[in-house]
Amino acid sequence: MQEFTKGDKMVHLVQVNYSLLPVIHRFGIRLGFGNRTVQELCKLYGVNTDFFLAIVNTFHNKNFFPETQLLSFSPLLIVDYLKKTHAYYVSFSLPQIEDLIHRLLLSTPQQNSEMKMIETFYLAYKRKLLEHFKEEEETVFPYVETLVLRPSDIQNHNFDANYEKEHEHVDFELDDLKNLILKYLVPEYDELVCNKLMEEIYRFEKDIRDHSRMEDAILMPQVAHLLKVVK
Ligand SMILES: [Fe+2]
Ligand SMILES: [Fe+2]
Repeated sequence: MQEFTKGDKMVHLVQVNYSLLPVIHRFGIRLGFGNRTVQELCKLYGVNTDFFLAIVNTFHNKNFFPETQLLSFSPLLIVDYLKKTHAYYVSFSLPQIEDLIHRLLLSTPQQNSEMKMIETFYLAYKRKLLEHFKEEEETVFPYVETLVLRPSDIQNHNFDANYEKEHEHVDFELDDLKNLILKYLVPEYDELVCNKLMEEIYRFEKDIRDHSRMEDAILMPQVAHLLKVVK
């Protein structure tokens, strides 16, 4: 699979893979790309071009994960990207999935316990995921920021390096949600809504796997390295 480079037109990236558009938005880069290249637009928006390309290429190609290069970026850059990704999930992906599940429920016959079970399962999943994000934003990310910016203050922070174990649950439960829908949805439903819902769940699953991989394989090793330096 091709790897995008800084000389590519930004339009080209979206033409090749339209699901890159939300990732590009996450960097604050807006449409109206004109004929500008990746490098020109990154410069215009004050974005680190190499980091942008590492993220976009990782997202585009599941076999591409430039671990050494990603580890070389500042943990602050990684944390900033992870926060923006949370914001995108919270304000867009999760409400979108919830709305589609609700519309699907409305399109099925009343007194339908299977569909209610799907909705209840999703709401519980969402609650756990939001708690996980909150924990990262209130504990993990500030810990990393302190470690980089004010390492002498690090003793004042409580931090459990095992937090990433939760990622396994995040992945599995999304699988369970898909299986519930595929196996137990009653046959009378709005198929357009159903198709759109499955598309969104698969899209979200891929996105959040990349996100968790960034936390597990990049951010945590960076923290371990910084801690060694501090000690
Ligand atoms: Fe996260
Ligand atoms: Fe996470």
